[in-house]
Amino acid sequence: MANEQRRAAHISGWGRYAPTRVLTNDELSRMVDTSEEWIQQRTGILERRVAGSDETTASMSLRAARAALDVAELDPRKVELIIVATVTPDYVFPSTACLVQDALGARSAGAFDLSDGCSGFVYALSVAADLIVAGRYDNALVIGAETLSRIIDWSDRNTCVLFGDGAGALVLQANRARGGVLASVLGADGSGGDLLKLPAGGSVHPATYETVDQRQHYIHMDGREVFRFATRVMPKATRQVVELAGLKVEDIALFVPHQANGRIIKSAVRALGIPPDRVFTNLARYGNTSSASVPMALTEAIEEGRVQKGDLVVCASFGAGLAWAATAIEWSLPLPVAKPPRRRIFWRRMLYHLARIQSWWRRSWRRAGALLRQLREGEEE
Ligand code: COA
Repeated sequence: MANEQRRAAHISGWGRYAPTRVLTNDELSRMVDTSEEWIQQRTGILERRVAGSDETTASMSLRAARAALDVAELDPRKVELIIVATVTPDYVFPSTACLVQDALGARSAGAFDLSDGCSGFVYALSVAADLIVAGRYDNALVIGAETLSRIIDWSDRNTCVLFGDGAGALVLQANRARGGVLASVLGADGSGGDLLKLPAGGSVHPATYETVDQRQHYIHMDGREVFRFATRVMPKATRQVVELAGLKVEDIALFVPHQANGRIIKSAVRALGIPPDRVFTNLARYGNTSSASVPMALTEAIEEGRVQKGDLVVCASFGAGLAWAATAIEWSLPLPVAKPPRRRIFWRRMLYHLARIQSWWRRSWRRAGALLRQLREGEEE
């Protein structure tokens, strides 16, 4: 079997979801002391999406995940691992990944959240890919999703203009074909943790009236220092990951950077010498969606036909932690993929309804069991 390739994790599905509510720079300029020009010139952002009151990180994850499973034509009951990268989970616990697992009816899947600021998704992708290569799983659903609008201080012009909500998802599957995830680089420097954080709500400052009064449950950031860190670390991680994959920066066919600030992207791209037409950005329309930024951008790039079989795609991210991550992927699917037949889409929708009924049934059964036990204990007393 001299020609057999090593087992690798290949991207076989992708999906994204952005809330319909658009918040423009003009609207923001009426909320805080800023201007459309300032936001556009200093960040490259024109508008961002804001989740509706009925939307959460889990509900947006679910929509992106279903789209990704449709593309991969993977039955949710066969999904083996679900990772949700997020800093805005629905709850501290249970994990958002478990909520998604339940809603998908992914009864064979393990599920956990991964929190590492804006680098969370690339970290999650790397973990999932390595578990697949190791033979532990044959597939994984990796999601990046955020409802940052719920932790933004809408009176702080330093931060509120930067962020947005959304979700992106990829399906990874084991395969011995050429390509897939070639290499990943993960890095951290916790000494910079104070530069970008949510000060309260953890074990250091649990929620109190004071923490609420002092607006400690919102994002706090030293923008200038984060900027400096980002422009240094993004080119470094990109060079490292390409080298680890045994390739050169010139080989990159598509660079998908974390969508934080147009000036950071420009600076990194210039330092790396990547031609602008090989860089994908959608920052202007979505702002910084943290863990969702890379999967949303990659999915949009794929949908636009920006990747071809054999292309080297590199994703690089940075953020709170401080942490950074990069991954090099050799694209292995011919594109575009055919849409699944209507009857399969219909069947999939039925499965999701069934999952909802099964979840309701299990909850009711558990409640009835607890009630019955209480009654029995009452009788014994
Ligand atoms: N509108 C108008 N003025 C603003 C403003 C806004 N929305 N936000 C900040 N300013 C002001 C500042 O108060 C400052 O005023 P001062 O000089 O009177 O103190 C001035 O603009 C310049 O601030 P500075 O921080 O130097 O601006 P900048 O050009 O670096 O841009 C950021 C600020 C936040 C856009 C930029 O630092 C940045 O993008 N940093 C990285 C943030 C990031 O990516 N975070 C997420 C990481 S995942």
